[in-house]
Amino acid sequence: MQFFLDTGDLNEIKTAHSWGLIDGVTTNPSIVAKTGKDQMTLIREICEIIDGPISAEVIALDAEGMLKEAAELAKINKNVVIKLPMTKDGMIACKKLSKDGVKTNVTLIFSANQALLAAKNGATYVSPFIGRLDDVGQTGMDLIAEIRTIFNNYGFETQILAASVRHSEHVKMSALAGADVATIPLKVLEGLFAHPLTKMGLDQFLADHAKSKK
Ligand code: E4P
Repeated sequence: MQFFLDTGDLNEIKTAHSWGLIDGVTTNPSIVAKTGKDQMTLIREICEIIDGPISAEVIALDAEGMLKEAAELAKINKNVVIKLPMTKDGMIACKKLSKDGVKTNVTLIFSANQALLAAKNGATYVSPFIGRLDDVGQTGMDLIAEIRTIFNNYGFETQILAASVRHSEHVKMSALAGADVATIPLKVLEGLFAHPLTKMGLDQFLADHAKSKK
């Protein structure tokens, strides 16, 4: 399973990268806005740190506008993945970009049918938002499992990118359900290291070592 970091914070990206655990980065307009930078500058800076897929989202709502933005974003680096909304125009742009060999990430996926449409149009990734589904009383994880079954049934190569990940259990359940990638905030990634027995065991080993003969 690959891990992407879901952030625009360069210090967070550098920290996670130093642990050797990060394969790529995802951003969205809200994440970019938090940094106070323009998207082109931010994506360029991220590409200097991580040599892997970096998702950058278009703002235009019409296919022509999306393709124009995609062309500018794709010029930044070969690793840029164009994030498109799950709309009819998003699907038109997805089909064209896939045909041209540009990597795409179809975002705001909340149903298996939406994922199926994106896969049919050649999306590189689909991003089901599991946390936001949980927020409205649905079980986000069921969606990952449904998409996995559909993609396996038809041999779609589109990768399932579990998004809107809020806690460690989401990461484990996504892995069990067969998501190809999870995009996660730094705090959640840090949480994956922790287990009280690991800490207790280490404390004990160090205490015993201190008692042993020098
Ligand atoms: C990633 O591609 C998504 O934009 C992100 O995971 C959304 O997460 P949120 O629901 O916590 O905003």
